[in-house]
Amino acid sequence: MGEPAEDPDLVARRIARESLDQDDPTGWFERLYSAASEGAAVVPWDRGTAHPLLTEWVEESGPDGTGKTALIVGAGTGWDAELIADLGYDTTAFDISPSAVQAAQRNHPDSKVHYVTADLLAPPAEWHRAFDLVVEIYTVQALPIELQPAAIKQVGEPVAPGGTLLVIAAARADDVPDDAIEGPPWPLTRAAIDSFATADLQLIQLTKSPSPADPSIYRWRAEYLRD
Ligand SMILES: C[S@@+](CC[C@H](N)C(=O)[O-])C[C@H]1O[C@@H](n2cnc3c(N)ncnc32)[C@H](O)[C@@H]1O
Repeated sequence: MGEPAEDPDLVARRIARESLDQDDPTGWFERLYSAASEGAAVVPWDRGTAHPLLTEWVEESGPDGTGKTALIVGAGTGWDAELIADLGYDTTAFDISPSAVQAAQRNHPDSKVHYVTADLLAPPAEWHRAFDLVVEIYTVQALPIELQPAAIKQVGEPVAPGGTLLVIAAARADDVPDDAIEGPPWPLTRAAIDSFATADLQLIQLTKSPSPADPSIYRWRAEYLRD
């Protein structure tokens, strides 16, 4: 019998810790996806399906993407992007990790999604106000707390006038101090959720619900609308 497989969450945390200790807060994503492509690690958030809260939002809102554009932030292996593309949106999905982009293309060989490598913290200029729908799931919380305000600002930037931003994130109570969180992830406070809003990008719907897998963990589902 071989060695028992190491818990994928622990492998991911170890890879993350090495990058964070080297002051490279985003380098670990490529190392993790690259190790996963060689079978040496498992991507812990790869659900093999769209996020249930995204599916729930789609079922409730019934968006028609015909003639519209969508941008999926930190798209990982592509399941959320595929759901949005299936609604008719001309969908672009990006990730900082080239190996994640390759995994998404491998997972969805007949996809209509444009999978690209890009950094949320330095996005292409042409994405400014260019998308009718922007979907952000678990990317901001994967970044250290000191990077989150800049990341949150960039998440809203590509939302076009009249467009929608949907944010799904793990929730943290406001009275839990930053230094009590040993990330990744670094879940978002209500104040962080409020900070996606700007003068013309308004929070129009917010739910906080327990995770079915672990009811002690709560998740935000926040929808914003640009004037
Ligand atoms: C926790 S995973 C979530 C992936 C996916 N959104 C999901 O819910 O399954 C965070 C993702 O964000 C990507 N990411 C992290 N920092 C990023 C950045 N600065 N720009 C673009 N993608 C980033 C990572 O490579 C990873 O795929």
